[in-house]
Amino acid sequence: MAELKGQDSARRVLEIAAAGGHNLLFSGPPGAGKSMLASRLPSILPPLTPPELLEVSMIHSIAGLLDELGLTDRKPFRAPHHSASMAALVGRGTQARPGEVSLAHRDVLFLDELPEFQPQALDCLRQPLETGEAVIARVQHRIAYPARFQLIATMNPCRCGHATDTGYACRKAPNAVCMAQYQSRISGPCLDRTDLTIDVSAVTPGDLLSAQKSETSESIGRRVSVARQR
Ligand SMILES: Nc1ncnc2c1ncn2[C@@H]1O[C@H](COP(=O)(O)OP(=O)(O)O)[C@@H](O)[C@H]1O
Ligand SMILES: [Mg+2]
Repeated sequence: MAELKGQDSARRVLEIAAAGGHNLLFSGPPGAGKSMLASRLPSILPPLTPPELLEVSMIHSIAGLLDELGLTDRKPFRAPHHSASMAALVGRGTQARPGEVSLAHRDVLFLDELPEFQPQALDCLRQPLETGEAVIARVQHRIAYPARFQLIATMNPCRCGHATDTGYACRKAPNAVCMAQYQSRISGPCLDRTDLTIDVSAVTPGDLLSAQKSETSESIGRRVSVARQR
């Protein structure tokens, strides 16, 4: 977080989301720093407790990923690409391996460029978001993996990316239509589960060039831990 200049409101919202475990969506033009902000959420979250660590390790072990994660108190950070299939997100295969939602259990699931995901893939996030479980049904068996994750996502306001810039005219003018079309790619139930949505505008040149140091992740993380304990 020390690398992130300015963006006071976005920083504040990220801290609130971390403290309350709220799902969060950043919307804004390309280059505003949405991905940068979102990817820093894990750096301000408290470490896993031993029981949480055990749960997370069991899921990673079933997925055959324990070597990658190892036993550590650091949270695994899952950031599947927007080309990820429904199966990759929720779980798959004849052996019903856990998907991204379960690998992100007790942690953050980062979906960058949310409207670019296949609509069916986003739809299947609905059940885990509601119940904290991912159910995989196969001919021979039915398995439910835990999937209690915090969703952090980013999106551009429209396909061109600049509908909210002053004076910008979208190719599919009027801008409101371009925005509505792009946003309709995300289903209602998915948006309903987003607790906080914030518009991020581009960092100002003044803030970017400022020599003033921003607050570190460690220092923000201490406030988050206190809030969680409370
Ligand atoms: N507030 C900021 N402070 C420092 N660098 C920034 C900031 N915003 C953007 N940048 C720089 O711009 C790059 C692009 O930001 P990115 O997070 O990819 O934007 P977006 O996801 O909104 O398109 C970042 O990698 C970073 O180098
Ligand atoms: Mg981005």
